[in-house]
Amino acid sequence: MRQKLLSDGANELSYEIREIVKKAEQLKKLGVGIYWENIGDPIQKHHKLPDWIKGIVADLAASDDTYSYCPSKGMLETRQFLAHQTNILGGVQINEDDICFFNGLGDAISKVYQYLTHTSRVIGPSPAYSTHSSAEAAHANHEPLTYKLDPENHWYPDLDDLYKKVKYNPNIVGILIINPDNPTGMVYPLATLKRIVEIAREFKLFLIADEIYINITYNGARAYSLAEIIEDVPGISMKGISKELPWPGGRCGWIEYYNRHRDDDFNRFCQALDNAKMIEVCSTKLPQVAIPKILGDKRFKAYRDETNRNIGRRSKIIADILGEVPELTFNETFGAFYNTIIFRRGVLKPHQRMKIRDSRVRALVEGWMYPNIPLDKRFVYYLLGAKGVCVVPISSFCSDLTGFRVTLLEEDEEVLVKTFTAIRDGIVEYLKS
Ligand SMILES: Cc1ncc(COP(=O)(O)O)c(C=O)c1O
Repeated sequence: MRQKLLSDGANELSYEIREIVKKAEQLKKLGVGIYWENIGDPIQKHHKLPDWIKGIVADLAASDDTYSYCPSKGMLETRQFLAHQTNILGGVQINEDDICFFNGLGDAISKVYQYLTHTSRVIGPSPAYSTHSSAEAAHANHEPLTYKLDPENHWYPDLDDLYKKVKYNPNIVGILIINPDNPTGMVYPLATLKRIVEIAREFKLFLIADEIYINITYNGARAYSLAEIIEDVPGISMKGISKELPWPGGRCGWIEYYNRHRDDDFNRFCQALDNAKMIEVCSTKLPQVAIPKILGDKRFKAYRDETNRNIGRRSKIIADILGEVPELTFNETFGAFYNTIIFRRGVLKPHQRMKIRDSRVRALVEGWMYPNIPLDKRFVYYLLGAKGVCVVPISSFCSDLTGFRVTLLEEDEEVLVKTFTAIRDGIVEYLKS
């Protein structure tokens, strides 16, 4: 008999953000028009990159040199540029050896958890961004360990919950922060971050901060980087260009090691991550070469500021449409480009429905239901069938809350208003049924 093929940890891998697409595609075949509110890709939502950025990339693509391998950790000049960007924040200081490039942050995330001992756990926020929670859970062959983000308190982390879980679980070796957060759009306040650093110091943990949205804040918010607040605690910051440029198809992200020489064990872990990249040879070169030319260009800040202002405006429009529905807990967002909207406890019931006129569509949607389906998933399927709006249920983000995640990305304001009005009308009809 052959040994079994699949590791037990593989059961922990799931990504509803893309799973829901399979359902939406079935509806599309029946002629339902879909508004894609499931994925955080600005380009798919009609964002246009400025010509000067495309010009830089086109010039680089015209040079033969761009097509070769690059050093395993990434282009030296780019790592020097990025180390300088971190150092001018005035906190922890790094150099080019403290940076390693990956094929998108998703690649970095899976490597980071993969090389931890099975019994060592990293606690992360709930609702959880599934690339982290799935990869962490798969490495441990155990369900994710989470601390609560509180929708009744601006989605800020529940620090007592975090403290108690860390104190009573000696397997925890690290704390994950996603700042600004996906899926809630929350920006961690400075005092909260400082308290998390204190907890890490008290229990000799390391910190991971996913900062892919660090330069995407709006409506008066400012996100503090891990580098500014970490002091002497070991940590990893994760950054990338998928959201900020945005160039998600470039598959380019990097990690920055902080205080690696203060902790031998942590230093060995960082070395293992560098080695893991070395055995793959290297990561995608073209976006790496483009980074200093684009992020270092005077025009970049003005472009990013304007793009952030537009996200902030859309955040307000969505708040105007959904903010007053009494059955929802709605928080205005200040960073990244998502919002997680929660149904108040008890308002979702297993008999509720939305009217779906086309009988084939109705039959398909009803066929997706199964015993004990999470109530928010049931709502999401009806919303998809009845209104053609594709959102993601929040129970799929390691959360016992019921709700759904939307994006703030639709650039066409008319379509934005139409989509969110359809969501509101769908909610009202569903809850009354
Ligand atoms: C918090 C967070 N981290 C990482 C990623 C993955 O980024 P990349 O495109 O660089 O793999 C995403 C993508 O949505 C994200 O939201």
